[in-house]
Amino acid sequence: MRQLIAGNWKMNGTRASASALLSALRQEAPGCGCAMLVCPPATLLALAADALAGSTIGVGGQDCHARPSGAHTGDVSPVQLRDAGASHVILGHSERRQDHAETDAQVRAKAEAAIAAGLVPVVCVGETRAERESGRAEAVVGGQISASLPAGFAAAGGVVAYEPVWAIGTGLTPTEAEVAAMHGFIRGRLAEAFGGAGRGTLILYGGSVKPSNAAVLLALPEVGGALVGGASLAAGDFLGIARAARTG
Ligand code: 13P
Repeated sequence: MRQLIAGNWKMNGTRASASALLSALRQEAPGCGCAMLVCPPATLLALAADALAGSTIGVGGQDCHARPSGAHTGDVSPVQLRDAGASHVILGHSERRQDHAETDAQVRAKAEAAIAAGLVPVVCVGETRAERESGRAEAVVGGQISASLPAGFAAAGGVVAYEPVWAIGTGLTPTEAEVAAMHGFIRGRLAEAFGGAGRGTLILYGGSVKPSNAAVLLALPEVGGALVGGASLAAGDFLGIARAARTG
């Protein structure tokens, strides 16, 4: 299956820096062949959608509210993301779970709202270092999978991103065996929960993916692509990762 390389820009980018990055990506993307997605901050979504219109690169949000509209100061709804040109939205990123105390139940409600608005949810799961060291990584990720994904998730083309918290922004990655084992475990849980549809769900790996380790990570079984943070802010790095991805 064609892999998906998604860039999570986090709280980075201005109109000037985004325009330069997007035009470089737009120019080189056709040579990559994989599916590509950029997830800029909400302030840059419409600019990104315009800059990438008619290209092969999609645009996604980084979070959304669980309601389509209303009195929720500072929040952005899935309907608004869709209106700004997004096709996807990242939900339940560990930085949201940590900084904003987001719970599995909230992530699930957001994913339901995203699907209702016509967005593809990209739901993040992953254990902390302490949880891995105490042998609880699968229990934690299994719990997040069962509590964060709504019933219609797989049928709506939902994507899961496995991002070990300790690998994010640290330069550390799990071993190949650890990534393969966790992706296999997640696949089993998705198949149990969603049957046939869960067997086709893309499972991205995220956490310190860069051009130098992308080929190895992307070749592992059940790895359907990558969710890239820091390296998605430099066109050459993001494209280098995309060139390592499977195109069919
Ligand atoms: P880094 O690629 O910077 O480790 O971030 C990963 C991530 O959090 C993507 O969502």
